[in-house]
Amino acid sequence: MCGIVGYSGPHNSVGPIIEGLSRLEYRGYDSAGICLKINGELQILKKEGKLENLKELITGQKPTSHTGIGHTRWATHGAVTTDNAHPHGNDLYAVVHNGIIENAAALKKDLMLEGFGFKSQTDSEVFLVLLTKFHKLGLSTLQSISRAFSTITGNSAFVIMEKASDKLYAVKRSAPLVVGENKELREAFVSSDPFALVGFAPKIYFPQDGVICEGVPTAGDVSLNFYELDLSPSSRYKFQTNSMALDATSKGPYEHYMLKEIHEQASLIDKLAAYYIKNEGRKVLDGLSGFSSDEWHVTACGTAWHAGLVIKNFFEQINRQRATVDIASEFRYRNPILRNKEIGLFISQSGETADTLACQELCKENGIPTYAIVNVEGSTLFRNADKNFLIHAGVEIGVASTKAFTLMALTGYLMSRAMEKTLDDPSLFGEMKLLSARIADLCANSEPIRAVAELIYTKKGFIFTGRGKYFPIAFEGALKLKEIAYVHAEGYAAGELKHGPIALIDENLVNIAIVGPELLEKTVSNVEEVKARRGLIVVVGPKDNSELEDLADAYIGLDFEGLPNLSPLYVNVALQFLAYHIAKLKGTDIDKPRNLAKSVTVE
Ligand code: AGP
Repeated sequence: MCGIVGYSGPHNSVGPIIEGLSRLEYRGYDSAGICLKINGELQILKKEGKLENLKELITGQKPTSHTGIGHTRWATHGAVTTDNAHPHGNDLYAVVHNGIIENAAALKKDLMLEGFGFKSQTDSEVFLVLLTKFHKLGLSTLQSISRAFSTITGNSAFVIMEKASDKLYAVKRSAPLVVGENKELREAFVSSDPFALVGFAPKIYFPQDGVICEGVPTAGDVSLNFYELDLSPSSRYKFQTNSMALDATSKGPYEHYMLKEIHEQASLIDKLAAYYIKNEGRKVLDGLSGFSSDEWHVTACGTAWHAGLVIKNFFEQINRQRATVDIASEFRYRNPILRNKEIGLFISQSGETADTLACQELCKENGIPTYAIVNVEGSTLFRNADKNFLIHAGVEIGVASTKAFTLMALTGYLMSRAMEKTLDDPSLFGEMKLLSARIADLCANSEPIRAVAELIYTKKGFIFTGRGKYFPIAFEGALKLKEIAYVHAEGYAAGELKHGPIALIDENLVNIAIVGPELLEKTVSNVEEVKARRGLIVVVGPKDNSELEDLADAYIGLDFEGLPNLSPLYVNVALQFLAYHIAKLKGTDIDKPRNLAKSVTVE
């Protein structure tokens, strides 16, 4: 979603801002802009479309400015147009915004009645106009920010620059925000993501909600100040050195980040095993041995929700512990029953998904512990959790999540095994090794899957089916395909097909049937039902099963042997390849699919 980068210091701000915005490109956006202070005036350059368009504008003008704020916008209020792109500014202030102002319509109406004009259809501009109004009433910038921020509702982060000084200001409510400094170079930074500040700001600070941050560059120094909304000094922020690395930003020999990330899975599984299973890494899962919760409330969104469904099976089957899995945007509004001795488990790659964070908050308010399975160390989910289980997937750039899914589910598996006994079990290590070896083998021999993609990529619809432990994989396979190939795809429980969706079956519909060794006969009957109605069938099933191969129009044979718990994750990698190849044949933007954002920071 929206990306924010701001700079103030003795050097030209354009370089770090554009570099920071490029690093955030993978999160998804539809327009980009920058505000620079040139000859004492606030100058805004913005353009709809890719960051390249903004770069072209900048190249034409070669601006130099010691203070600037940049933004990539993912439209919420108002169409994708240059006018609606951020920053929004006037002769006093320029503002960039990430989030939603929920009472924007009412505020805008009142402000218009008071005689204020608007240049865009965005909710964000309301904040700019409020600032302007309070300034005109004689308030200082800090006072105006505090008043404007207290007037709006909804989750948002704002960064503000002003004509009157080279200061940067920022404030947020339930939206990601980080400020940073480089003392040596006397530079202050602000961003929606610490990744944008890697190599620029060695010291970073995460302000809590309602803390106003002020970056003040002076001739010989730079300082960061933090204030409460009543403008008293605040200590409600967390300091951290920025230890992130930039290595993930290269695609290496791969055509797409998604392909690279699919291939990374085998070695990441080995690393996860080494991190959690060996004695020196055991500290992370310490405290889970023999642990039990009366009920796990698992909440997440999208792919992370699918990982939650896989983990529920582990907790129930291996530990016989109750687990409910909810889509975060549903859980938070359904007044869930939360009792003592229960635990909220939140799964998220980014750790910044607004709905998942809201569920964490809800569990906290109800006094139950919150655990997180999360990729981004230092993210909001991570910082607010009572216990964290990092998935160690590295930066995931492809908007369609691949490696994060596998590692989230595996981390849940390790939690489950740790609750059962210790993590010293050599057979567990062997199982993880076997999974990584099978995935590596699949990566080295994915050509047959590409051939299947060629056979089906022009079809109009896809139904993924699976039973039991493969049911969540049917969901995930379908989601991956629709995200990157823009075709209709649905995940269904194989046994449920005849209760409705079978009406869709004809020669233009493909059934991707996951047929694992368990419940094989029953799942095969479901395939027969589709076959009888002239649907095209791709079976993902045990290799060397000639009967099934004969039944299917195309067959992806996998070696399920030795993976009684982890085969769903192996099957899923085959489906990742299938989605990738179908999307490639269709010529879509695989790493940055239309309309999608990597991290969904609005509800
Ligand atoms: C996955 O391919 C998605 N793009 C999306 O469903 C994602 O999993 C979801 O938005 C949750 O994100 P999170 O893991 O960062 O919380």
